[in-house]
Amino acid sequence: METTQHHREVISATTFRVSGGRRLADDVNVAYILPSDKDEVKRLKLNHDLWSLYKSDMHDQLKKGIRVLDVGCGPGWWTLDMAALYPNSQFIGIDMADVFVTKDLPSNVTFKQMNAGTGLDFEDASFDFVFQRFLVMGLSVDQYSSSVAEIKRVLKPEGAIEILELINDYSNPSPAFARIGLWSRSIFLSSVLENAGFHNIKDVNYDVPIGPWGGEPGEMFLAIQRLALPAVKVMVTELTNATTEEYDKTVKQAFEEANTHQVSTRFRLIYASK
Ligand SMILES: C[S@@+](CC[C@H](N)C(=O)[O-])C[C@H]1O[C@@H](n2cnc3c(N)ncnc32)[C@H](O)[C@@H]1O
Repeated sequence: METTQHHREVISATTFRVSGGRRLADDVNVAYILPSDKDEVKRLKLNHDLWSLYKSDMHDQLKKGIRVLDVGCGPGWWTLDMAALYPNSQFIGIDMADVFVTKDLPSNVTFKQMNAGTGLDFEDASFDFVFQRFLVMGLSVDQYSSSVAEIKRVLKPEGAIEILELINDYSNPSPAFARIGLWSRSIFLSSVLENAGFHNIKDVNYDVPIGPWGGEPGEMFLAIQRLALPAVKVMVTELTNATTEEYDKTVKQAFEEANTHQVSTRFRLIYASK
């Protein structure tokens, strides 16, 4: 049977610049605003440890052996944990940055440098499960929709999609967190999936505490935020009228207030089938 192949040519590898001591993508086709460097890899590991691996009803298929794509995989912690759990399945992780773990890769894992914002260089209906985590700051709103459409294209019929994103929507925001929330942006993921024609959309919100008031997760997320908020400084100061001094002062204040105001932030997990 003839397949229609819409995948585009791979755009050449991302270029980077260094600003404020951080390595940032410097590419018109990359909207990503966080750094791609060692400190960021550290933060991503902490973040990864905070979450369970997936919620979709895929365990039996994964056990038997399927093809899985991890979009914007970063160093690839999710891919590697999943590949160890499910040795019969094949895992492909793509990221626009070359931050992949390269040591002792299991034979069921492949990493490829690819910009998800300009199309997925894979054949139609070639994956059973596509996972994407924390890319909301990586793609422009238009790219986000086209990337979800691309995910649909590369999924087999009945294939599953699962997306976990941080929505910078703080509850009990202290004054400083309210400002940081305003400086960030969020998108409505479920409507993106709906518009792309996915079915059985499940939408789960998690309010994650920031600070010791929230016990162990609160401590952990505070540690993550301590790395995340400085990481978005370059973006905030370049794209808004906040100055570096103002940003630093606000972040410092935010950490002081996190506990007294019992601030939490929202994550959103969306999973659906094709
Ligand atoms: C916050 S990290 C999350 C990494 C990984 N998904 C995880 O949960 O540990 C976002 C990742 O998306 C990647 N990224 C950003 N824009 C991208 C794009 N347009 N195409 C592919 N990857 C992108 C970044 O390089 C970074 O590794």
